[in-house]
Amino acid sequence: MVTAGTDTSSYTVEFAMAEVVNKPEVMQKAQQELDAVVGKHNIVEESHIHKLPYLQAVVKETLRLHPVVPLLIPHSPTETCTVGGHTIPKGSRVFVNKEVPLVAIPTPRLSDPALYE
Ligand code: HEM
Repeated sequence: MVTAGTDTSSYTVEFAMAEVVNKPEVMQKAQQELDAVVGKHNIVEESHIHKLPYLQAVVKETLRLHPVVPLLIPHSPTETCTVGGHTIPKGSRVFVNKEVPLVAIPTPRLSDPALYE
């Protein structure tokens, strides 16, 4: 639980910072939103989050570009089942690949997290 909650969060924050420092316009927009909603001398509280759509978009874009657990945790059905027309035999090991090939994603979305708004 500690590993699941700490490495995932810290890697995601590091990737977000790495992305944002390379995109000054995104950094500026996120800072403006934080200044307007939270203020320069206050700390971000949970109650602010729903008023920070641009920051949320930056986090979502980071998770899409850098999924820290791209194959999820292996799953194994206790009974044979059908998912999306595919038969998954009982006891098989299932890896879900949630990595999206970047080549399939239109360029504007890569450069503008605001498209999540
Ligand atoms: C950026 C942050 C995080 C990411 C990307 C992330 C990602 C994931 C993924 C992909 C899974 C597997 C889901 C599945 O296969 O069905 C998972 C499971 C899990 N995560 Fe996270 N996680 C994050 C933060 C956290 C935090 C903060 C905690 C705890 C405080 C946590 C605790 C867990 C636990 C306990 C499971 C196993 C759940 C189960 O099997 O029922 N995770 N996480």
